[in-house]
Amino acid sequence: MKVLIVGSGGREHAIAYAVAKSDKVDKIYCAPGNAGIAEYAECVSIGAMEFDKLADFAMEKEIDLTVIGMDDPLVGGIVDVFNEKGLRVFGPNKAAAILEGSKAFSKDLMKKYNIPTASYENFSSPEAALAYLETAKMPIVLKADGLALGKGVLICNTREEAIQGVKTLMLDKQFGSAGDKIVVEEFMVGREVSVLSFVDGKTIKIMTSAQDHKRAKDGDQGLNTGGMGTFSPSPFYTEEVDEFCKKYIYQATVDAMKSEGRPFKGIIFFGLMLTQDGPKVLEYNARFGDPEAQVVLPRMKNDIIDVFEACVDGTLDQIDLQFEDNAAVCVVLASDGYPEKYDKGFEIKGLDNFKNKEGYYVFHAGTKFDGDKILTNGGRVLGVTAKGSDLKEARANAYEATKLIDFDNKYMRNDIGKAIDEA
Ligand code: AMP
Ligand code: GLY
Repeated sequence: MKVLIVGSGGREHAIAYAVAKSDKVDKIYCAPGNAGIAEYAECVSIGAMEFDKLADFAMEKEIDLTVIGMDDPLVGGIVDVFNEKGLRVFGPNKAAAILEGSKAFSKDLMKKYNIPTASYENFSSPEAALAYLETAKMPIVLKADGLALGKGVLICNTREEAIQGVKTLMLDKQFGSAGDKIVVEEFMVGREVSVLSFVDGKTIKIMTSAQDHKRAKDGDQGLNTGGMGTFSPSPFYTEEVDEFCKKYIYQATVDAMKSEGRPFKGIIFFGLMLTQDGPKVLEYNARFGDPEAQVVLPRMKNDIIDVFEACVDGTLDQIDLQFEDNAAVCVVLASDGYPEKYDKGFEIKGLDNFKNKEGYYVFHAGTKFDGDKILTNGGRVLGVTAKGSDLKEARANAYEATKLIDFDNKYMRNDIGKAIDEA
């Protein structure tokens, strides 16, 4: 069969790697893709938001299944455009992708269906938000309602910061219309875990757990980024936590979406906080995490095409999802300065060291070809994933592997997986 993947990051490279492993797949296209994805797929220069062009391409090439990696096209309704043309596509439609697209929606959903989450209020007017903040308990969390590249969340320690935050989001419109509405939420303390799942509208199958490192600098300092590294599984995701989430969060979310007339098909990514009062939902995403996919997919035993098709067809109950009994760590190599200003266009050296190196993966994010050379072309450049029999071995392998790759202004965190030592 022929598969089209929509996206261009490390996550889409990990998806392309998993799709390429399937015996059922003869040809992969990726729009727009990157220099690493080109190893598995023919990259076509159509942007992820060009829905009609993508659907026309899928018709012309007789694509059997399109997989959407990114949040923006999902929230924008790409799946609806494909469905209208009778094209098979993996991902939630617009009505369901609102689970990620509107934080106010997802908070109201959790409240209505008693899914554990931080207490909150939604505001559409800055005056009302400011009035609320006069007596609210600090610290407090402000969240832009819409998509903001993972940067629309402000943790405010003081009332002054919170007042400034409302101005930034709602008056200065730092994230555009994403800040027309905001969620003001109780600050929670605990460890974060990312849990990805496959969903077919009614059945949910949980993948192995992972943990991201969102801040740019060691010791969780610096600005929030898309993610500087991950490990999987999370030693803090215990059986007890799993049982609790199965009882109160996972199926409850799928059932809630169905009850709202918004059946969800695709990936639900649960961002969880393990608080003293038990696990609570921090946020939902409607797609694989990046760089969570880079540690979860290399450990998945199933043919991913079988799972994607079961989600599309509503037969996920027949899939026995299985993961290797090992661990993986991904260290992101970024351009120094990310997530703010950085230079790009530097040659990346050492990629050949990874050809046929079992248990190691270099997932490209911001890269591009320049003749035979591969150049840096973004903030997050590469994700180096290594497996190991346990987390410590995987971490040692991943950091050893980062030494094999070099480019000017290479930057990485040196403490990815430090939490493993506290487990
Ligand atoms: P989100 O995009 O909602 O996952 O938020 C980004 C990050 O902000 C999360 O990964 C947390 O580290 C932090 N965060 C979000 N909501 C809260 C909260 N209610 N309490 C504490 N930290 C939070
Ligand atoms: N790594 C977090 C995300 O993909 O949203």
